[in-house]
Amino acid sequence: VTVYVPLDAAAIALGADDVADAISKEAAARGADVKIIRNGSRGMVWLEPLVEVVTDAGRVAFGPVSEGDVAGLFDAGFLTGGDHALNLGLTEEIPFLKRQTRLTFARCGIIDPHSLEDYEAHGGLAGLRNALKMSRADIIQQVTDSGLRGRGGAGFPTGIKWKTVHDAPGTEKYIVCNADEGDSGTFADRMIMEGDPFILIEGMAIAAIAVGAEHGYVYTRSEYPHAIKAMNDAIEIARKAGLLGPSVLGSGYAFDMEVRMGAGAYVCGEETSLLNSLEGKRGVVRSKPPLPALEGFLGKPTVVNNVISLTSVPVIMDKGAAFYRDFGMGRSHGTIPIQIAGNVKYGGLFETAFGLSLGEIVDDIGGGTATGRPVRAVQVGGPLGAYFPRDLFDTPFDYEAFAARDGLIGHAGVVVFDDTVDMLKQARFAFEFCAVESCGKCTPCRIGSTRGVETLDKLKAGIEPEKQIELASDLCNTMKFGSLCALGGFTPYPVMSAITHFPEDFKPAPMAQA
Ligand code: NAI
Ligand code: SF4
Repeated sequence: VTVYVPLDAAAIALGADDVADAISKEAAARGADVKIIRNGSRGMVWLEPLVEVVTDAGRVAFGPVSEGDVAGLFDAGFLTGGDHALNLGLTEEIPFLKRQTRLTFARCGIIDPHSLEDYEAHGGLAGLRNALKMSRADIIQQVTDSGLRGRGGAGFPTGIKWKTVHDAPGTEKYIVCNADEGDSGTFADRMIMEGDPFILIEGMAIAAIAVGAEHGYVYTRSEYPHAIKAMNDAIEIARKAGLLGPSVLGSGYAFDMEVRMGAGAYVCGEETSLLNSLEGKRGVVRSKPPLPALEGFLGKPTVVNNVISLTSVPVIMDKGAAFYRDFGMGRSHGTIPIQIAGNVKYGGLFETAFGLSLGEIVDDIGGGTATGRPVRAVQVGGPLGAYFPRDLFDTPFDYEAFAARDGLIGHAGVVVFDDTVDMLKQARFAFEFCAVESCGKCTPCRIGSTRGVETLDKLKAGIEPEKQIELASDLCNTMKFGSLCALGGFTPYPVMSAITHFPEDFKPAPMAQA
Protein backbone atom coordinates (compact mmCIF):
# COMPACT_ATOMS: atom_id res chain seq x y z
CA VAL A 1 0.00 0.00 0.00
CA THR A 2 1.33 3.44 -0.90
CA VAL A 3 0.98 6.11 1.74
CA TYR A 4 1.83 9.76 1.17
CA VAL A 5 3.13 11.90 4.04
CA PRO A 6 4.21 15.45 3.13
CA LEU A 7 7.80 16.62 3.42
CA ASP A 8 6.62 20.22 3.15
CA ALA A 9 8.07 22.51 5.84
CA ALA A 10 4.61 23.47 7.17
CA ALA A 11 3.65 19.81 7.50
CA ILE A 12 6.98 19.01 9.14
CA ALA A 13 6.50 21.87 11.58
CA LEU A 14 3.19 20.24 12.51
CA GLY A 15 4.78 16.81 13.03
CA ALA A 16 4.85 15.11 9.59
CA ASP A 17 8.29 13.52 10.16
CA ASP A 18 7.13 11.90 13.39
CA VAL A 19 3.95 10.71 11.71
CA ALA A 20 5.92 9.16 8.82
CA ASP A 21 8.17 7.42 11.35
CA ALA A 22 5.25 6.15 13.38
CA ILE A 23 3.51 4.79 10.25
CA SER A 24 6.59 2.92 9.15
CA LYS A 25 7.14 1.43 12.64
CA GLU A 26 3.49 0.49 13.05
CA ALA A 27 3.46 -1.12 9.60
CA ALA A 28 6.59 -3.12 10.42
CA ALA A 29 5.13 -4.24 13.76
CA ARG A 30 1.93 -5.40 12.06
CA GLY A 31 3.70 -6.93 9.06
CA ALA A 32 1.88 -4.59 6.67
CA ASP A 33 3.52 -3.86 3.33
CA VAL A 34 3.58 -0.05 3.27
CA LYS A 35 5.55 2.21 0.96
CA ILE A 36 5.78 5.76 2.25
CA ILE A 37 6.29 8.52 -0.31
CA ARG A 38 7.12 11.97 1.01
CA ASN A 39 5.12 14.33 -1.20
CA GLY A 40 4.59 18.09 -1.23
CA SER A 41 1.67 19.72 0.52
CA ARG A 42 -1.81 19.91 -0.99
CA GLY A 43 -1.91 23.37 0.53
CA MET A 44 -4.62 22.81 3.14
CA VAL A 45 -2.50 23.84 6.07
CA TRP A 46 -5.21 23.40 8.71
CA LEU A 47 -5.32 19.68 7.80
CA GLU A 48 -1.56 19.09 8.00
CA PRO A 49 -0.04 16.63 8.48
CA LEU A 50 -2.39 15.31 5.78
CA VAL A 51 -1.73 11.63 5.17
CA GLU A 52 -3.02 10.05 1.98
CA VAL A 53 -3.57 6.36 1.26
CA VAL A 54 -3.80 5.08 -2.30
CA THR A 55 -6.95 2.97 -2.72
CA ASP A 56 -8.77 1.57 -5.75
CA ALA A 57 -11.19 4.53 -5.55
CA GLY A 58 -8.37 7.07 -5.48
CA ARG A 59 -6.33 8.78 -2.78
CA VAL A 60 -8.08 8.93 0.58
CA ALA A 61 -7.03 11.70 2.96
CA PHE A 62 -6.65 11.60 6.73
CA GLY A 63 -5.86 14.71 8.68
CA PRO A 64 -4.63 16.38 10.71
CA VAL A 65 -2.78 13.25 11.84
CA SER A 66 -0.56 13.22 14.91
CA GLU A 67 1.91 10.56 15.95
CA GLY A 68 -0.51 9.37 18.62
CA ASP A 69 -3.27 8.75 16.03
CA VAL A 70 -1.27 6.25 14.01
CA ALA A 71 -2.02 3.02 15.92
CA GLY A 72 -5.74 3.89 15.94
CA LEU A 73 -5.65 4.53 12.21
CA PHE A 74 -4.19 1.08 11.60
CA ASP A 75 -6.84 -0.43 13.89
CA ALA A 76 -9.52 1.31 11.82
CA GLY A 77 -8.04 -0.15 8.61
CA PHE A 78 -6.86 3.13 7.18
CA LEU A 79 -4.69 1.30 4.64
CA THR A 80 -7.89 0.43 2.80
CA GLY A 81 -9.40 3.86 3.42
CA GLY A 82 -11.22 2.68 6.57
CA ASP A 83 -13.63 4.62 8.70
CA HIS A 84 -12.00 6.93 11.23
CA ALA A 85 -12.72 10.34 12.69
CA LEU A 86 -9.80 11.75 10.69
CA ASN A 87 -10.96 10.24 7.38
CA LEU A 88 -11.66 13.16 5.04
CA GLY A 89 -12.74 11.05 2.07
CA LEU A 90 -11.19 11.28 -1.37
CA THR A 91 -8.58 14.05 -1.37
CA GLU A 92 -9.72 15.46 -4.70
CA GLU A 93 -13.27 15.84 -3.34
CA ILE A 94 -12.30 18.10 -0.42
CA PRO A 95 -14.16 21.34 -1.28
CA PHE A 96 -11.14 23.62 -0.68
CA LEU A 97 -9.19 21.63 -3.28
CA LYS A 98 -12.06 20.84 -5.63
CA ARG A 99 -12.92 24.51 -6.14
CA GLN A 100 -9.44 25.41 -7.32
CA THR A 101 -8.05 25.76 -10.82
CA ARG A 102 -4.61 24.31 -10.43
CA LEU A 103 -2.40 25.04 -13.41
CA THR A 104 0.87 25.92 -11.70
CA PHE A 105 0.29 23.75 -8.63
CA ALA A 106 -1.30 20.95 -10.67
CA ARG A 107 1.25 18.39 -9.49
CA CYS A 108 2.11 19.79 -6.06
CA GLY A 109 1.20 17.26 -3.39
CA ILE A 110 0.44 14.64 -6.01
CA ILE A 111 3.88 13.59 -7.20
CA ASP A 112 7.03 12.42 -5.49
CA PRO A 113 9.28 15.52 -5.66
CA HIS A 114 12.30 13.23 -5.90
CA SER A 115 11.10 11.46 -9.01
CA LEU A 116 11.60 12.96 -12.45
CA GLU A 117 9.67 9.97 -13.86
CA ASP A 118 6.67 10.85 -11.70
CA TYR A 119 6.98 14.47 -12.86
CA GLU A 120 6.94 13.40 -16.50
CA ALA A 121 4.15 10.90 -15.94
CA HIS A 122 2.01 13.83 -14.75
CA GLY A 123 2.66 16.02 -17.77
CA GLY A 124 6.03 17.45 -16.77
CA LEU A 125 8.56 18.47 -19.46
CA ALA A 126 5.86 18.72 -22.16
CA GLY A 127 6.26 22.51 -22.17
CA LEU A 128 10.03 22.36 -22.46
CA ARG A 129 9.85 19.78 -25.24
CA ASN A 130 7.51 22.09 -27.16
CA ALA A 131 9.81 25.04 -26.53
CA LEU A 132 12.77 23.10 -27.90
CA LYS A 133 10.96 22.82 -31.24
CA MET A 134 10.37 26.58 -31.42
CA SER A 135 12.51 29.61 -32.21
CA ARG A 136 13.54 31.88 -29.35
CA ALA A 137 11.29 34.62 -30.71
CA ASP A 138 8.30 32.28 -30.85
CA ILE A 139 8.76 31.15 -27.24
CA ILE A 140 8.86 34.77 -26.11
CA GLN A 141 5.83 35.58 -28.24
CA GLN A 142 3.88 32.72 -26.67
CA VAL A 143 4.71 33.91 -23.15
CA THR A 144 3.77 37.47 -24.12
CA ASP A 145 0.50 36.34 -25.70
CA SER A 146 -0.42 34.35 -22.59
CA GLY A 147 -0.69 37.62 -20.68
CA LEU A 148 1.51 36.29 -17.87
CA ARG A 149 2.56 39.09 -15.52
CA GLY A 150 5.22 38.98 -12.81
CA ARG A 151 3.85 37.06 -9.86
CA GLY A 152 6.44 38.46 -7.44
CA GLY A 153 4.14 41.41 -7.01
CA ALA A 154 4.76 44.10 -9.58
CA GLY A 155 2.80 42.42 -12.39
CA PHE A 156 5.19 43.42 -15.17
CA PRO A 157 4.59 41.39 -18.39
CA THR A 158 6.99 38.44 -18.34
CA GLY A 159 7.25 38.15 -22.13
CA ILE A 160 8.33 41.79 -22.48
CA LYS A 161 10.99 41.30 -19.80
CA TRP A 162 12.32 38.25 -21.64
CA LYS A 163 12.32 40.14 -24.95
CA THR A 164 14.37 42.95 -23.38
CA VAL A 165 16.97 40.40 -22.24
CA HIS A 166 16.87 38.56 -25.56
CA ASP A 167 17.38 41.80 -27.52
CA ALA A 168 20.13 43.10 -25.22
CA PRO A 169 23.59 42.95 -26.80
CA GLY A 170 26.08 40.42 -25.49
CA THR A 171 26.39 36.67 -25.35
CA GLU A 172 26.63 36.22 -21.58
CA LYS A 173 23.13 36.33 -20.05
CA TYR A 174 21.59 34.95 -16.88
CA ILE A 175 18.34 33.67 -15.42
CA VAL A 176 17.84 34.55 -11.78
CA CYS A 177 14.89 33.16 -9.91
CA ASN A 178 13.77 35.35 -7.06
CA ALA A 179 12.83 32.82 -4.37
CA ASP A 180 13.50 35.24 -1.53
CA GLU A 181 9.90 35.06 -0.44
CA GLY A 182 9.65 37.60 2.35
CA ASP A 183 6.06 38.81 2.42
CA SER A 184 4.13 38.06 5.58
CA GLY A 185 1.66 35.25 5.09
CA THR A 186 3.16 34.03 1.82
CA PHE A 187 4.48 30.55 1.13
CA ALA A 188 3.68 29.77 -2.52
CA ASP A 189 7.34 29.85 -3.63
CA ARG A 190 8.40 27.59 -0.80
CA MET A 191 5.52 25.20 -1.28
CA ILE A 192 6.15 24.61 -4.98
CA MET A 193 9.92 24.30 -4.57
CA GLU A 194 9.35 21.63 -1.93
CA GLY A 195 6.48 19.87 -3.64
CA ASP A 196 7.31 20.15 -7.35
CA PRO A 197 10.89 21.38 -7.80
CA PHE A 198 11.21 20.11 -11.38
CA ILE A 199 8.63 22.63 -12.58
CA LEU A 200 10.97 25.45 -11.56
CA ILE A 201 13.87 23.77 -13.35
CA GLU A 202 11.67 23.39 -16.43
CA GLY A 203 10.50 27.02 -16.27
CA MET A 204 14.06 28.29 -15.89
CA ALA A 205 15.30 26.10 -18.74
CA ILE A 206 12.59 27.49 -21.03
CA ALA A 207 13.50 31.06 -20.00
CA ALA A 208 17.18 30.34 -20.62
CA ILE A 209 16.60 28.92 -24.06
CA ALA A 210 14.32 31.84 -24.93
CA VAL A 211 16.80 34.57 -24.03
CA GLY A 212 20.06 32.73 -24.73
CA ALA A 213 21.32 32.18 -21.18
CA GLU A 214 23.37 29.19 -20.10
CA HIS A 215 23.36 29.64 -16.37
CA GLY A 216 20.68 30.22 -13.77
CA TYR A 217 20.48 30.88 -10.05
CA VAL A 218 17.73 30.32 -7.55
CA TYR A 219 18.20 32.92 -4.84
CA THR A 220 16.42 31.94 -1.66
CA ARG A 221 16.73 32.47 2.08
CA SER A 222 18.37 30.55 4.87
CA GLU A 223 14.94 30.20 6.53
CA TYR A 224 13.97 27.81 3.72
CA PRO A 225 16.22 24.78 4.39
CA HIS A 226 13.66 22.24 3.12
CA ALA A 227 13.13 24.13 -0.13
CA ILE A 228 16.89 24.44 -0.60
CA LYS A 229 17.33 20.70 -0.14
CA ALA A 230 14.42 19.90 -2.45
CA MET A 231 15.86 22.14 -5.18
CA ASN A 232 19.40 20.82 -4.78
CA ASP A 233 18.19 17.21 -4.91
CA ALA A 234 16.11 17.94 -8.00
CA ILE A 235 18.98 19.75 -9.75
CA GLU A 236 21.22 16.75 -9.18
CA ILE A 237 18.59 14.37 -10.55
CA ALA A 238 18.03 16.70 -13.53
CA ARG A 239 21.74 16.78 -14.30
CA LYS A 240 21.99 12.99 -14.25
CA ALA A 241 18.99 12.76 -16.55
CA GLY A 242 20.42 15.27 -19.04
CA LEU A 243 17.70 17.82 -18.31
CA LEU A 244 20.42 20.20 -17.14
CA GLY A 245 23.92 20.33 -18.56
CA PRO A 246 25.73 20.86 -21.86
CA SER A 247 22.80 19.70 -23.96
CA VAL A 248 19.33 20.10 -22.42
CA LEU A 249 17.39 16.92 -23.32
CA GLY A 250 19.81 16.42 -26.21
CA SER A 251 18.83 19.72 -27.85
CA GLY A 252 22.29 21.22 -28.10
CA TYR A 253 21.26 24.10 -25.80
CA ALA A 254 23.41 24.29 -22.67
CA PHE A 255 21.82 25.24 -19.36
CA ASP A 256 22.74 24.58 -15.76
CA MET A 257 21.64 26.15 -12.50
CA GLU A 258 22.39 26.33 -8.79
CA VAL A 259 20.80 27.45 -5.56
CA ARG A 260 22.22 30.39 -3.61
CA MET A 261 21.22 31.21 -0.09
CA GLY A 262 20.77 34.69 1.37
CA ALA A 263 20.61 35.52 5.04
CA GLY A 264 16.98 36.57 5.05
CA ALA A 265 17.02 40.36 4.72
CA TYR A 266 13.61 41.46 3.40
CA VAL A 267 15.20 43.98 1.04
CA CYS A 268 17.19 41.20 -0.69
CA GLY A 269 13.91 40.27 -2.35
CA GLU A 270 14.16 43.56 -4.24
CA GLU A 271 15.75 42.52 -7.49
CA THR A 272 18.80 44.80 -7.55
CA SER A 273 19.58 44.21 -3.90
CA LEU A 274 19.25 40.50 -4.63
CA LEU A 275 21.73 40.79 -7.48
CA ASN A 276 24.22 42.54 -5.21
CA SER A 277 23.81 39.81 -2.62
CA LEU A 278 24.21 37.14 -5.32
CA GLU A 279 27.47 38.80 -6.35
CA GLY A 280 28.66 38.54 -2.75
CA LYS A 281 28.13 42.21 -1.98
CA ARG A 282 26.01 43.87 0.67
CA GLY A 283 22.31 43.72 -0.13
CA VAL A 284 21.93 47.39 -0.99
CA VAL A 285 19.47 48.53 -3.65
CA ARG A 286 20.94 49.73 -6.97
CA SER A 287 19.50 52.69 -8.84
CA LYS A 288 17.36 51.87 -11.87
CA PRO A 289 18.10 52.45 -14.72
CA PRO A 290 19.93 50.45 -15.76
CA LEU A 291 17.30 47.72 -15.57
CA PRO A 292 18.58 44.25 -14.62
CA ALA A 293 17.23 43.11 -17.98
CA LEU A 294 20.07 45.14 -19.53
CA GLU A 295 22.68 45.20 -16.77
CA GLY A 296 21.94 42.63 -14.10
CA PHE A 297 24.04 39.85 -12.60
CA LEU A 298 27.72 40.76 -13.04
CA GLY A 299 26.52 43.65 -15.21
CA LYS A 300 25.12 41.26 -17.85
CA PRO A 301 21.54 41.10 -19.21
CA THR A 302 19.54 39.12 -16.67
CA VAL A 303 16.00 37.82 -16.37
CA VAL A 304 14.95 38.23 -12.74
CA ASN A 305 11.63 36.45 -12.27
CA ASN A 306 9.75 35.25 -9.22
CA VAL A 307 9.31 31.48 -8.65
CA ILE A 308 5.62 31.59 -9.56
CA SER A 309 6.23 33.54 -12.79
CA LEU A 310 8.74 30.91 -13.90
CA THR A 311 6.64 27.94 -12.77
CA SER A 312 3.66 29.33 -14.71
CA VAL A 313 5.59 29.06 -17.97
CA PRO A 314 5.63 25.25 -18.50
CA VAL A 315 1.83 25.02 -18.68
CA ILE A 316 1.77 27.96 -21.13
CA MET A 317 4.29 26.23 -23.38
CA ASP A 318 2.40 22.94 -23.03
CA LYS A 319 -1.19 24.08 -23.52
CA GLY A 320 -0.64 27.29 -25.44
CA ALA A 321 -0.97 31.01 -24.81
CA ALA A 322 -4.71 31.12 -25.52
CA PHE A 323 -5.45 28.39 -22.97
CA TYR A 324 -3.73 30.35 -20.21
CA ARG A 325 -4.98 33.75 -21.29
CA ASP A 326 -8.59 32.60 -21.10
CA PHE A 327 -8.47 32.45 -17.32
CA GLY A 328 -8.82 35.62 -15.29
CA MET A 329 -10.32 39.06 -15.81
CA GLY A 330 -9.33 42.38 -17.38
CA ARG A 331 -5.58 42.56 -17.82
CA SER A 332 -4.97 39.92 -15.14
CA HIS A 333 -4.73 36.67 -17.09
CA GLY A 334 -4.25 33.12 -15.88
CA THR A 335 -4.31 31.86 -12.34
CA ILE A 336 -2.87 33.13 -9.09
CA PRO A 337 -1.96 31.08 -6.03
CA ILE A 338 -3.65 33.00 -3.22
CA GLN A 339 -2.13 32.34 0.17
CA ILE A 340 -4.73 32.65 2.92
CA ALA A 341 -3.18 33.19 6.34
CA GLY A 342 -3.44 34.97 9.67
CA ASN A 343 -6.49 34.59 11.87
CA VAL A 344 -8.47 32.40 9.47
CA LYS A 345 -10.27 29.10 9.80
CA TYR A 346 -9.09 27.43 6.58
CA GLY A 347 -5.61 28.71 5.90
CA GLY A 348 -3.70 27.51 2.88
CA LEU A 349 -2.92 27.88 -0.78
CA PHE A 350 -5.82 28.41 -3.16
CA GLU A 351 -4.93 28.62 -6.85
CA THR A 352 -7.67 30.15 -8.92
CA ALA A 353 -8.26 32.37 -11.93
CA PHE A 354 -8.07 36.10 -11.17
CA GLY A 355 -11.40 37.71 -10.37
CA LEU A 356 -12.68 36.23 -7.10
CA SER A 357 -13.75 38.95 -4.70
CA LEU A 358 -11.82 39.53 -1.49
CA GLY A 359 -14.99 38.66 0.45
CA GLU A 360 -15.30 35.28 -1.27
CA ILE A 361 -11.67 34.54 -0.49
CA VAL A 362 -11.88 35.49 3.18
CA ASP A 363 -15.41 34.53 4.22
CA ASP A 364 -16.25 31.73 1.87
CA ILE A 365 -12.99 29.93 1.11
CA GLY A 366 -11.13 30.94 4.27
CA GLY A 367 -14.24 30.37 6.40
CA GLY A 368 -13.82 33.60 8.39
CA THR A 369 -11.59 33.87 11.43
CA ALA A 370 -10.16 30.99 13.42
CA THR A 371 -11.23 32.74 16.61
CA GLY A 372 -14.83 32.89 15.40
CA ARG A 373 -14.91 36.66 15.91
CA PRO A 374 -15.88 39.00 13.04
CA VAL A 375 -13.28 39.80 10.38
CA ARG A 376 -12.28 43.43 10.72
CA ALA A 377 -9.32 43.92 8.40
CA VAL A 378 -7.43 42.03 5.74
CA GLN A 379 -3.94 42.90 4.64
CA VAL A 380 -3.30 41.94 1.04
CA GLY A 381 0.16 41.89 -0.56
CA GLY A 382 2.52 41.48 2.37
CA PRO A 383 3.73 43.96 4.96
CA LEU A 384 3.74 46.72 2.34
CA GLY A 385 0.17 46.01 1.25
CA ALA A 386 -2.95 47.93 2.19
CA TYR A 387 -5.46 46.94 4.88
CA PHE A 388 -8.92 46.39 3.47
CA PRO A 389 -12.06 46.82 5.60
CA ARG A 390 -15.27 44.83 5.05
CA ASP A 391 -16.67 47.72 2.98
CA LEU A 392 -14.16 46.92 0.26
CA PHE A 393 -14.69 43.15 0.25
CA ASP A 394 -16.29 43.40 -3.20
CA THR A 395 -12.85 44.21 -4.68
CA PRO A 396 -12.01 41.53 -7.26
CA PHE A 397 -8.60 39.88 -7.12
CA ASP A 398 -7.11 41.71 -10.08
CA TYR A 399 -4.02 43.94 -10.34
CA GLU A 400 -5.89 47.00 -11.59
CA ALA A 401 -8.90 46.66 -9.27
CA PHE A 402 -6.64 46.59 -6.22
CA ALA A 403 -4.57 49.52 -7.48
CA ALA A 404 -7.77 51.52 -8.04
CA ARG A 405 -8.50 51.13 -4.34
CA ASP A 406 -5.01 52.14 -3.25
CA GLY A 407 -3.96 48.58 -2.64
CA LEU A 408 -1.89 45.91 -4.28
CA ILE A 409 -2.08 42.17 -4.82
CA GLY A 410 1.67 41.80 -4.42
CA HIS A 411 2.66 38.17 -4.04
CA ALA A 412 -0.99 37.32 -3.27
CA GLY A 413 -0.71 36.93 0.48
CA VAL A 414 -3.98 37.55 2.33
CA VAL A 415 -3.65 38.01 6.10
CA VAL A 416 -6.87 38.10 8.11
CA PHE A 417 -7.45 39.99 11.39
CA ASP A 418 -10.47 39.84 13.69
CA ASP A 419 -12.12 42.73 15.55
CA THR A 420 -9.53 42.75 18.32
CA VAL A 421 -6.92 44.20 15.94
CA ASP A 422 -5.54 47.61 16.84
CA MET A 423 -4.99 49.41 13.53
CA LEU A 424 -2.83 52.12 15.07
CA LYS A 425 -0.51 49.36 16.24
CA GLN A 426 -0.53 47.86 12.72
CA ALA A 427 0.32 51.24 11.16
CA ARG A 428 3.14 51.69 13.65
CA PHE A 429 4.35 48.19 12.82
CA ALA A 430 4.57 49.12 9.12
CA PHE A 431 6.86 52.07 9.89
CA GLU A 432 8.88 49.97 12.32
CA PHE A 433 9.24 47.14 9.81
CA CYS A 434 10.51 49.61 7.24
CA ALA A 435 12.99 51.06 9.74
CA VAL A 436 14.34 47.61 10.61
CA GLU A 437 14.54 46.33 7.03
CA SER A 438 15.64 49.55 5.26
CA CYS A 439 18.90 49.17 3.34
CA GLY A 440 19.68 52.75 4.33
CA LYS A 441 20.45 54.07 0.88
CA CYS A 442 17.84 56.82 0.71
CA THR A 443 16.64 59.32 3.28
CA PRO A 444 12.82 59.10 3.08
CA CYS A 445 12.97 55.42 3.91
CA ARG A 446 15.91 55.35 6.33
CA ILE A 447 14.90 58.41 8.37
CA GLY A 448 11.21 58.67 7.47
CA SER A 449 10.34 55.27 8.86
CA THR A 450 11.82 56.10 12.26
CA ARG A 451 10.11 59.52 12.34
CA GLY A 452 6.89 57.69 11.42
CA VAL A 453 7.14 55.44 14.47
CA GLU A 454 7.73 58.47 16.69
CA THR A 455 4.77 60.32 15.18
CA LEU A 456 2.37 57.46 15.84
CA ASP A 457 3.74 57.02 19.35
CA LYS A 458 2.95 60.69 20.04
CA LEU A 459 -0.52 60.16 18.63
CA LYS A 460 -1.07 57.23 20.96
CA ALA A 461 0.13 59.33 23.87
CA GLY A 462 -2.45 61.97 22.92
CA ILE A 463 0.09 64.66 22.03
CA GLU A 464 -1.52 66.96 19.41
CA PRO A 465 -3.31 64.08 17.63
CA GLU A 466 -4.55 66.00 14.56
CA LYS A 467 -1.07 67.33 13.94
CA GLN A 468 0.38 63.81 14.13
CA ILE A 469 -2.06 62.48 11.53
CA GLU A 470 -1.16 65.40 9.27
CA LEU A 471 2.55 64.76 9.80
CA ALA A 472 2.20 61.01 9.20
CA SER A 473 0.29 61.66 5.96
CA ASP A 474 2.88 64.17 4.82
CA LEU A 475 5.67 61.75 5.65
CA CYS A 476 3.89 59.01 3.70
CA ASN A 477 3.73 61.26 0.65
CA THR A 478 7.45 61.95 0.87
CA MET A 479 8.22 58.24 1.25
CA LYS A 480 5.90 57.25 -1.58
CA PHE A 481 7.39 59.63 -4.10
CA GLY A 482 10.93 60.03 -2.79
CA SER A 483 12.05 56.44 -2.08
CA LEU A 484 14.29 54.53 -4.41
CA CYS A 485 12.56 51.16 -4.05
CA ALA A 486 9.27 49.60 -2.99
CA LEU A 487 10.27 49.12 0.65
CA GLY A 488 10.19 52.83 1.41
CA GLY A 489 7.81 53.58 -1.43
CA PHE A 490 5.08 51.14 -0.39
CA THR A 491 5.22 51.51 3.41
CA PRO A 492 2.59 54.26 3.04
CA TYR A 493 0.05 51.67 1.80
CA PRO A 494 -0.47 49.91 5.15
CA VAL A 495 -0.12 53.18 7.08
CA MET A 496 -2.51 55.28 5.00
CA SER A 497 -5.07 52.50 4.50
CA ALA A 498 -5.19 52.00 8.27
CA ILE A 499 -5.68 55.74 8.85
CA THR A 500 -8.25 56.07 6.05
CA HIS A 501 -10.38 52.98 6.65
CA PHE A 502 -10.11 52.67 10.42
CA PRO A 503 -10.03 56.32 11.63
CA GLU A 504 -11.61 55.36 14.96
CA ASP A 505 -8.37 53.63 15.97
CA PHE A 506 -6.40 56.84 15.47
CA LYS A 507 -8.37 58.88 17.95
CA PRO A 508 -6.56 59.44 21.24
CA ALA A 509 -7.64 57.16 24.08
CA PRO A 510 -10.15 58.86 26.44
CA MET A 511 -7.62 58.79 29.28
CA ALA A 512 -5.06 60.67 27.23
CA GLN A 513 -7.68 63.24 26.20
CA ALA A 514 -8.50 64.04 29.81
P1 NAI B 1 8.92 47.45 -10.67
O1 NAI B 1 7.56 47.84 -11.12
O2 NAI B 1 9.97 48.49 -10.57
O3 NAI B 1 9.51 46.36 -11.67
C1 NAI B 1 8.89 45.18 -12.00
C2 NAI B 1 9.81 44.35 -12.85
O4 NAI B 1 9.76 44.75 -14.21
C3 NAI B 1 11.28 44.43 -12.48
O5 NAI B 1 11.85 43.17 -12.67
C4 NAI B 1 11.85 45.43 -13.48
O6 NAI B 1 13.22 45.26 -13.68
C5 NAI B 1 11.06 45.05 -14.69
N1 NAI B 1 10.93 46.10 -15.72
C6 NAI B 1 10.38 47.32 -15.57
N2 NAI B 1 10.39 47.98 -16.76
C7 NAI B 1 10.95 47.14 -17.66
C8 NAI B 1 11.22 47.23 -19.06
N3 NAI B 1 10.92 48.32 -19.77
N4 NAI B 1 11.82 46.18 -19.66
C9 NAI B 1 12.12 45.06 -18.95
N5 NAI B 1 11.88 44.92 -17.64
C10 NAI B 1 11.30 45.94 -17.01
O7 NAI B 1 8.71 46.71 -9.29
P2 NAI B 1 9.76 46.10 -8.24
O8 NAI B 1 10.33 47.17 -7.40
O9 NAI B 1 10.70 45.16 -8.92
O10 NAI B 1 8.81 45.20 -7.34
C11 NAI B 1 7.88 45.76 -6.47
C12 NAI B 1 6.91 44.69 -6.10
O11 NAI B 1 7.53 43.70 -5.32
C13 NAI B 1 5.76 45.19 -5.28
O12 NAI B 1 4.61 45.26 -6.08
C14 NAI B 1 5.60 44.19 -4.17
O13 NAI B 1 4.33 43.64 -4.18
C15 NAI B 1 6.58 43.11 -4.50
N6 NAI B 1 7.19 42.51 -3.33
C16 NAI B 1 7.21 41.14 -3.29
C17 NAI B 1 7.75 40.46 -2.22
C18 NAI B 1 7.75 38.97 -2.21
O14 NAI B 1 8.01 38.36 -1.16
N7 NAI B 1 7.49 38.31 -3.33
C19 NAI B 1 8.32 41.17 -1.10
C20 NAI B 1 8.28 42.61 -1.24
C21 NAI B 1 7.72 43.23 -2.33
FE1 SF4 C 1 16.99 51.22 0.64
FE2 SF4 C 1 14.64 52.00 1.67
FE3 SF4 C 1 15.76 53.42 -0.22
FE4 SF4 C 1 14.73 51.01 -0.77
S1 SF4 C 1 13.59 52.80 -0.14
S2 SF4 C 1 16.69 51.87 -1.48
S3 SF4 C 1 15.24 49.92 1.15
S4 SF4 C 1 16.62 53.05 1.83
